[in-house]
Amino acid sequence: MSLRRVSVVRGTQRILSDIDLDVQRGEFVAIRGQSGSGKSTLLNVIGLLDRPTSGTVSFSGEDVGDMSDRQRSGIRAQCIGFVFQKFHLLHNRTALENVALGNLYIGASSSARLAEAEELLTRIALGHRMDALPATLSGGEQQRVALARARPRSHGISRHPPV
Ligand SMILES: Nc1ncnc2c1ncn2[C@@H]1O[C@H](COP(=O)(O)OP(=O)(O)O)[C@@H](O)[C@H]1O
Ligand SMILES: [Mg+2]
Repeated sequence: MSLRRVSVVRGTQRILSDIDLDVQRGEFVAIRGQSGSGKSTLLNVIGLLDRPTSGTVSFSGEDVGDMSDRQRSGIRAQCIGFVFQKFHLLHNRTALENVALGNLYIGASSSARLAEAEELLTRIALGHRMDALPATLSGGEQQRVALARARPRSHGISRHPPV
């Protein structure tokens, strides 16, 4: 993943200025900074949830700036796992449905998505709460559902340890 001269301006606020960043496959990176310094803004750009005002974002050498929202959603589904600070689980969907929705954009069948979600939730000790709505889960349980939903799909669930 590479950023080149990425800037984000919102209204009159210049939030990010000419950011260059390279993250290699398998690399583990922490972004630190004061509250309000632009970490979430940067992560939203890296996670393809937002587009920068200027500059380029590329994955595997491919510029994603010119891609449609649908293409970008495909890359998100395959390559990016995003755990939101506030989880953002769908409140009228069960834990199982929330996790299965994380697979929507990879084009798997509904039954395959539900089966994978069931396996993931069982592995993180939430098998008994699969049919619960998020509001009835504890904070930690909601966090685990968000982690299960965030898991990038291209890795295949059976070859890796639980999230
Ligand atoms: N849509 C927006 N419009 C105007 N200002 C924004 C917007 N989003 C974030 N900001 C401002 O940009 C700055 C960085 O925000 P953010 O990236 O959320 O910081 P962090 O995650 O590091 O706490 C903050 O001052 C915030 O108020
Ligand atoms: Mg933040």
